[in-house]
Amino acid sequence: MAFVPTPDHEDKLKQILNRYPNKMAACIPVLHLAQQQNGWVSDDVTAWVAETLDLSTAHVFGVATFYSLFNTEPVGQHQVWVCRTLSCALAGSDNILAHCEERLGVQAGHTSADGRVTLRTAECLASCGSGPMMQVDRDYHENLTREKVDVILDRLTGG
Ligand code: FES
Repeated sequence: MAFVPTPDHEDKLKQILNRYPNKMAACIPVLHLAQQQNGWVSDDVTAWVAETLDLSTAHVFGVATFYSLFNTEPVGQHQVWVCRTLSCALAGSDNILAHCEERLGVQAGHTSADGRVTLRTAECLASCGSGPMMQVDRDYHENLTREKVDVILDRLTGG
């Protein structure tokens, strides 16, 4: 089904386009805008961004697949990124990730069976002094313990 932005997103699109010297330069923020509405960058989203910005679908696809913050497959309602880079690893991120995998019943890179949570790993999220940490949607959760993770995941899963 063709992607159609909401009226609110149409307004935001105009604001984005006004901030950039040309349409191509707005590719990343427009992809973010479309992903915010659609949840992921589907073929229809790619086609809409390409048409909106006068770009080829190959160009838009290349941008969307280059940056890990763009979802090129359907994702859960919430996304959890567990940082695994050195500082967090030394603070126990492997245990936090294993606990998330156990709680959600999926390995990193997959979505829980109820469709609520996509679990991922991340490279350094710039909160190295408060590891282990993870990002849940737009929020950081730091100095994690298994108990803190339980509270967070209970909130996300309604458990
Ligand atoms: S190493 Fe995890 S936030 Fe930097």
